[in-house]
Amino acid sequence: MSENKKRIFSGVQPSGNLTIGNYLGAIKNWVGLQDEYDCMYCIVDLHTLTVRQDPKELRQRSLSVLALYMACGLDPEKNILYLQSHVAAHAELAWILNCYTYIGELNRMTQFKDKSQRHADNINAGLFTYPALMAADILLYQTDLVPIGQDQKQHLEITRDVAARFNNLYGDVFVVPEPYIAKVGAKIMSLQEPAKKMSKSDENENNFVTLLDSPDVVVRKFKKAVTDSDREIRYDEENKPGISNLMSIYSSVTGKPFGDIEAEFQDKSYGDFKLAVGEAVAETLKPVQERYNQLMGNKDYLNEVLKVNGERAARLAYRTLNKVYKKVGLLPRG
Ligand code: TYM
Repeated sequence: MSENKKRIFSGVQPSGNLTIGNYLGAIKNWVGLQDEYDCMYCIVDLHTLTVRQDPKELRQRSLSVLALYMACGLDPEKNILYLQSHVAAHAELAWILNCYTYIGELNRMTQFKDKSQRHADNINAGLFTYPALMAADILLYQTDLVPIGQDQKQHLEITRDVAARFNNLYGDVFVVPEPYIAKVGAKIMSLQEPAKKMSKSDENENNFVTLLDSPDVVVRKFKKAVTDSDREIRYDEENKPGISNLMSIYSSVTGKPFGDIEAEFQDKSYGDFKLAVGEAVAETLKPVQERYNQLMGNKDYLNEVLKVNGERAARLAYRTLNKVYKKVGLLPRG
């Protein structure tokens, strides 16, 4: 990693099968940034423990997310692709940042409000302090830019506030990171309920398309997608949320601007449009799935990637953590 490139950090929770929301809102952009920046792309497994996980499935999914990162085009030599739990500095810095994050700030987090409604029987302290761990992830690596979907913007804002607060007390310890949110694809909505975000942990499988859905399943899910009683294919988020979402997905996978899409489907039906979106998405996923299957056939290689990259990440992380320990008054490790 060179010292003069800017640093990028981002991550995905291995809490379910990754969706085209994760891909279009985040991973697709990461691929485009890997040459210009020093990039760390983490599989944030510690974050998933805020909701009950099946241990066996979690282990399997962590490896599967690594394979998907690589299948989507992230090079493990160019980028640091690693597992959050393999670098203990994340949890260590999170503890310290917990002591610099206010309850009032955490209370305002919409993800906490959503998740505590969905998991009312398990509103644990980790769910509440989740943003302090996320801030630790980002600040450990002196990150300049964080490529994320729209839904993570609030977490980035709290990260910036905590970094600035810490810097005010102790001098310039952390780089204050900027969000990087793409213009199209940053908020892919559910196919059946376009008022809510597409989410990998949704109970209704028709609400999301995963990166591993077969072409038939992808096309079927798009055919079923909710539209409206009108017949016009036009971008209007407020009055036509279903069609606008499908347009965002289509634009994102084909690179076509909205105006061109409107012209292309001017005389076509919603059925024609939904089929075209489904086929374009299936086509995008085909090479990803092929590479994924090859990679998952070689688990030793995936584990080796995690080992080497985890060590690279730890070296960088401890530089920052040692500085933080010193600043707050903890004796340096021998
Ligand atoms: P997670 O795992 O929910 O999502 C991973 C990334 O995918 C984006 N995303 C979406 N983008 C567009 N449309 C959607 N429907 C959609 N759903 C998800 C998310 O915005 C995110 O960029 N807290 C984070 C994980 C995390 C993290 C970090 C991210 C932990 N530490 C440090 C960046 C930096 C999360 O739960 O993402």
